[in-house]
This record gives sequence, structure tokens and C-alpha cells, in this order.
Amino acid sequence: MGRLCRELCEKTMALFPAVLLLLWASTIPETHGNKPNFVLFMADDLGIGEVGCYGNNTLRTPNIDRLAREGVRLTHHIAAASLCTPSRAAFLTGRYPIRSGMTGHEGGYLVLMWSAVSGGLPTNETTFAKILQEQGYTTGIIGKWHLGVNCRSKNDFCYHPLNHGFDYFYGLTYTLINDCEESMPSEIHVPFRAKLQFYAQLFAMTLLTAMVSKRMGLLPVSWKVLVIFACFVVLYFTYWFAAYAFLRYWNCFLMRDFEITEQPMDLETTAGKMVNEAKSFISRNKEGPFLLFVSFLHIHSPHSTTEKFRGKSKHERYGDNIEEMDWMIGEILGAIDQEGLVNNTLTYFTSDHGAHLEGMNSKSQGFNGIYRGGKGIGGLEGAIRVPGIFRWPGVFPANTIIDEPTSLMDIYTTVIKLGGGKLPEDRIIDGKDLVPLMQGLDSVSPHDFMFHYCTDQLHTVRWYQKSNHTVWKVHYMSPKFTPEGAGACYGTKFCSCSGNGVILHDPPLLYNLSGDPSEKNPLPHDVGPYQEVVQEIEQAVAMHKISLHPVPQQLYKFNNMWDPRLQPCCGTFPLCWCQKE
Ligand SMILES: *[C@@H]1O[C@H](CO)[C@@H](O)[C@H](O)[C@H]1NC(C)=O
Ligand SMILES: *[C@@H]1O[C@H](CO)[C@@H](O)[C@H](O)[C@H]1NC(C)=O
Repeated sequence: MGRLCRELCEKTMALFPAVLLLLWASTIPETHGNKPNFVLFMADDLGIGEVGCYGNNTLRTPNIDRLAREGVRLTHHIAAASLCTPSRAAFLTGRYPIRSGMTGHEGGYLVLMWSAVSGGLPTNETTFAKILQEQGYTTGIIGKWHLGVNCRSKNDFCYHPLNHGFDYFYGLTYTLINDCEESMPSEIHVPFRAKLQFYAQLFAMTLLTAMVSKRMGLLPVSWKVLVIFACFVVLYFTYWFAAYAFLRYWNCFLMRDFEITEQPMDLETTAGKMVNEAKSFISRNKEGPFLLFVSFLHIHSPHSTTEKFRGKSKHERYGDNIEEMDWMIGEILGAIDQEGLVNNTLTYFTSDHGAHLEGMNSKSQGFNGIYRGGKGIGGLEGAIRVPGIFRWPGVFPANTIIDEPTSLMDIYTTVIKLGGGKLPEDRIIDGKDLVPLMQGLDSVSPHDFMFHYCTDQLHTVRWYQKSNHTVWKVHYMSPKFTPEGAGACYGTKFCSCSGNGVILHDPPLLYNLSGDPSEKNPLPHDVGPYQEVVQEIEQAVAMHKISLHPVPQQLYKFNNMWDPRLQPCCGTFPLCWCQKE
């Protein structure tokens, strides 16, 4: 009798996990063998304080607000970096950008600076799109890429979205910049260009003097040496002047798959084209499963907005641009409704990092709510805390707010799990599966520590101490900036991440983020939890550092200089011009 009972018990116990799994699986609707579609929206440079459902009542974002009403809104959603290229690399790979060499490095640049550079998202990194592709998904990206194009020739497309797991691409391989709109002041290397102009003039005068002196027999070098020297210098100046002379042509072009359709692009029509592309992708693939990544060019400068939205918001060009982006989201949500896909589509909305405090182009500056700092300002909360909304009617609850710490890198693990794929096993993946948290099966975040870098410098670390439900944050260094905004980084466009541009904190500053989300009051070093918490974090940092390996630096030096041999060009270089549509 006893034995029988034991056997029975054992059998039941063995069945238990299976039953649980079955129960869990049954809460996810049966579509394409449990495979939902994914529509992922990512805004560019949108601050957490600029969305209606996050408390902004002067901007109108009814469509983003609708997503929040129909889904889960995250209040503690953290980007992996405070600038485009590294944050996007991390989003697509589920790994801190330092693992893929996409961070930047002291003395180098912070993002990819041209469409024609030899750096980019390494081909041996595996995006979630690639894994979903293997699971039968049709994958598309519409909009901004900013993760490189070519490695060695002008059409090897080694870093192109189509070589990183996407079946379809329509958009900009680079990013919007002021230079994409003819009437706007340039924003690329402005101080350097002024210097270049100065040195070119100086050189011309020196050369002239040298020639005259030589002629008069006063210069003891041969003509040959003089000519060779002059040629090198002329070549140097030609290179830089060519790079800057056609910035708009070199960088602001639209591609469909591998083909350039518009060079330079027409900003007046781009928003409409992106919407049509997204709608048509959804309707072409409605039999599913599909993944569509809508990577907005909004709300990056130059904040070009279509006539219909110009002058309509309360925040000038800047606000008009946000309201136009919201309209685009509405149109695409409409397509999901229309095709009857709403219940088997997981829709997500986020921004790649905080808003740009320098604002640029208008008096309205980026606004990150109660959080200190903004785009490019290291590991401060305003630099990396962004909106995050998940909607999946019937699976995730509606109108729900979750305050647990989550990361943009979690999208990686989450969509791979839901799409039936397996995470790569030969590398560290930093993103976590958010499904249990979103479904309410788990009430606590899967994260303990998060590491916040500015280039390859560790600026701050977050620790979620679950035993007392407190989120701590340690600051090891912070960029020097004026919190008031305009000229936040002392007149330069981006704050430095190291050297003279930062303040080192030794001993580090500790904040209780749960009680002090604006990072205003560092805790005293000698009383309270300081020692214990900082020690715990130090240990985690040591472990984290052990997990890092040196990799080629993609944003550094020659990898990030304009290389005419790599220039995507519609026509015969340097005559790159076309309007095919
Ligand atoms: C809404 O966002 C705009 C644009 O960043 C900002 O200037 C404004 O202060 C925000 N308004 C509120 C009420 O948060
Ligand atoms: C990719 O290749 C580089 C060397 O080129 C290597 O350092 C890195 O570890 C590789 N990454 C992965 C994920 O295998």
C-alpha cells in the first residue's frame, strides 16, 4: 500500500512540471503553432517625458497611449546605452554593446559616423531576426539601421539588414542628421570643419610662399620633394572636403533591400512611404508568422515633419515631429486591426535612449520627465530610462503598469522564446525572458544587476535587491554637464565619456533609486547600507568584467572614417544621385 502510494506520488510529481507547462502553454493562443507575430516600434531619441501615457499632457500621443491601455506599460525600462549605434546593437543581439565592440572608445567616435565606414554590427553576431527567420518567420525592418553597410567593397553589404536576419528592408542605413534637410545648419564635425578650412588656407599660402622662395633660389629642397609633399597635403584636404561637401548624398538615402531608391532622400515624403511600406508588409505576410521592426527616423533632428502636422503641436518642430510619429503608429495599428491580427500579434513600443537635452533646431528641448540627464549623458537615468509598452490582447493583461526593472535587451530573449527559437549557446546573452512578468505569473523582475556604459567606460551600475525590494544605483563617474539643458555638454554636441569630460567618484556615489529616482541625494558613506550595497555591486562588477573578452572595436579610428570605396552610390561615384520612385 505504502509502496503504491509512493509510486503514485512519484508519478504525479514527475507529471507536475508537464502539467504546469501545459497550463502555461494553453494561455497562449493557438496560432501558427503558437507563434505570434511581432511588431516592434522603436522611436529615435524620444524621451520618457514626451509621451501622454507617461505623464505628458501637452503633447498628443493617442496611439501610443492606446497601446498602453490595451497592454502592459513598463515604468522602469532601460536602454543598454545612451546613444543610437550601441543601443541598437544591444537591442538586436541581446548583449551589452561592449561584447560586440559597438561601444566606442576613448578618443574615438560614439556612433557610426558615415554610411560608408568599415565598422558595423559584426557578422558573427546573431540578431533575434536571424533566429526567428530559422523558425519560419518572415522578418522585415522599415526605417533606421545605423549598424553599418559594407566591410570591404561598395556592395558586399556584409552588415546590411538582409545579412543580419531580415528578409526585407526599406529605409536608411545611417541615421537622420540635420544635413539631410537642405535648409538646416550642418551638424557633422562642425568645429573640425572650421579648423580644416583654416588649415587649408594656411597650407595654400605656405605652398605659394615655398614656390616663390624656390624660384628665387631661397629654398634648399628639390622641386620633386616639394611637389610630392604638396600632392600628399592636397590629397588629404581633397579627402575631407569631398567627405563634407556631399554629406547629404553620402548619408541621406533610402534603400529597398540592396537597391538605393532615393539619393538623397526627400524628407517630405519619407514618413508616408514608411507607413505604406509597413502596411503592405503586414498585409503581404498576414498568413504569418512575421516580425516587423519599425525603426522610426523620428524624432531625431532635423525634426522634419510633413505639412499636415507642421505647426500643430504645442512644442514647435520638435513636438510636431512627435505627433506625426504617433500618427504613423496609429496607421500601422490600423493595419493590424484591419487584417484581424490583433490577438496574435505582440506589439511593442520603445525608444532607443533618452531625449537629447540640447534640443537643437527649436526652443523645445528633449524632456526626460523627472529623470536627470539625457541622450549621450553616460549612465544617468534620463539617458537610458525609456518608454516600454507590450500589447498582446488575451495573453498579456490590459491597462497594467509594471514597475519592475527591465531592459531593451530583454526583447531578444522574449521574442526568441515566443517564436520557438533557441538562444545561442556559444556566447553570453544579457537579455531575459519577460513573458512570465508580462503575464503576471511572476511578480519580480528577472534582473539583479544592470551595467551602464558610456563608450567602453562603466559609468553606473544598478542593483535590484529583491529581499527588500529596493533598486540601488552606484555612480563611478559622470559626464560634466549642466542639468538645465541647452548646451548641456558645454556647447559640444555630445558629452565625453572619459578623460577630462567626466567627474570620477571615488568613493562611488550611491543612490536609492526606489526612493530617489531623480538621482538627487547620494547616500552618506559612513552610515546606513552604503558599505554593504557598494560591496555587493563591486562583486557583481568583478564577475561581469571576467565575462568580457576583447573584440575588434567597430567604432574606432579607421573603422569609422569615411571610406569612398565603401560608399553606397546610385550612379557612378562620385555622382550619386537618383529618384527611382
Ligand atoms: C511634454 O514634452 C515636451 C517636449 O519635450 C516638453 O517640452 C514638455 O515640457 C512636456 N510636458 C509635460 C507636461 O511633461
Ligand atoms: C566574432 O569574431 C571576433 C573576431 O573577429 C571575436 O573576437 C568574437 O568573439 C566573435 N564573436 C562571437 C559572438 O563569436
